[in-house]
Amino acid sequence: MVKVAVLGYGTVGSGVVEVIRTNKEIIKKHTGEDVEVKYVLDLREFEGDPIQEILVHDYDTILKDDEIQVVVEVMGGVEPAHTFVKQALELGKSACTSNKEMVAKHGAELIAIAKEHQCNFFYEASVGGGIPIIRPLLTSLTCDDITEVYGILNGTTNYILTKMNEEGSDFDEVLKEAQDKGYAERNPEADVEGYDACRKIAILSSLICGQQVDYEDVHTEGISKITTHDFAYAKALKASIKLLGVYNKVDGKNYAMVAPMLVSQKSPLYHVNDVFNAIMVHGNMVDDVMFYGRGAGKEATASAVVSDVVECIKNQGSTVPQEWKQEKLTLGDFDSWKHKFLVRVKSEDIDDVNMDAVKAAFGDVMYVRATGIVDEVAFVTKPMTEADFKAAVEGFDNVENTIRLSF
Ligand code: HSE
Repeated sequence: MVKVAVLGYGTVGSGVVEVIRTNKEIIKKHTGEDVEVKYVLDLREFEGDPIQEILVHDYDTILKDDEIQVVVEVMGGVEPAHTFVKQALELGKSACTSNKEMVAKHGAELIAIAKEHQCNFFYEASVGGGIPIIRPLLTSLTCDDITEVYGILNGTTNYILTKMNEEGSDFDEVLKEAQDKGYAERNPEADVEGYDACRKIAILSSLICGQQVDYEDVHTEGISKITTHDFAYAKALKASIKLLGVYNKVDGKNYAMVAPMLVSQKSPLYHVNDVFNAIMVHGNMVDDVMFYGRGAGKEATASAVVSDVVECIKNQGSTVPQEWKQEKLTLGDFDSWKHKFLVRVKSEDIDDVNMDAVKAAFGDVMYVRATGIVDEVAFVTKPMTEADFKAAVEGFDNVENTIRLSF
């Protein structure tokens, strides 16, 4: 019998208890052992919930219990989650988490501590919810030079952008609807400003590079400035707009960012809608591989967490190798990264926009017309560095919005 402790009885925590209990026999088939949740740690009381019988308020009870082999951290936030996981690993108890903030900041340190104490630290649910992406990168895509990873890493923003695209609604209107349905938090900043996706692409970039990519170094833009006009131009270009997390290796340099981008109808990502997530991985041998599924939600996220518990049990007494050194990786200079851009310029009359000036600033461009929009001129540039693009835009004082193309 393997005894497990769950830290936090929120949405994911209650999902973890449910998955372990509901799929007991399936888990036993994989581990060869019965798995039991011995403790749930939470500051709150849950009167009337059978969980009350195993509820504890003091973490020491868990740490001091030698029967506990695996600690599941699903409290969220960096502290005290980080300290709790560290303490467990130092005692040789394996730990699993869905906590992207903590993994992005302390993942490399916790992997090193686990190795020192012959146990494991796993975090499959920290990126893409229920989608298996961490383990495939660590154990399947191990003979490829991974040059590109990009994808939809946030369900809330994908829901909002899908509705804006399909219904032609404004950002504020859809955000409110998403909040009312419980898809978006009351304080939606972490999702809509791209901070959540930023942690996730930092984790993926760290795993691909084998060393620490600090999320603070990842250029991050959210979706709050995206308008119905942007979607009209996206349609004209046979594309949609998705918030993408992108990692790219170009000429030996590593680049990472989060930004809303135009995604062509030809890309599988175009068809990833609502709260679903998808991640494309490009290797020099395997070519493109796509991972798709539920990026959030109780059962899906808990499924990924419990798959880590299973992995901990299967590897009890040894550490599964993970290449993620604590040494910081310096990303390539963002200003030198090249993209094509859609540029929308306000204009009462098309002749207001001086095409010679556009050509002088941006080079050859392709003009785009969108149905129903008469007071703007829009064009798509050739690939330009961020620095050149920024300088070119500064020469125009009536730019409405700019969006990068992913194709
Ligand atoms: N807020 C996140 C999302 C939850 O919308 O994707 C999963 O990390």
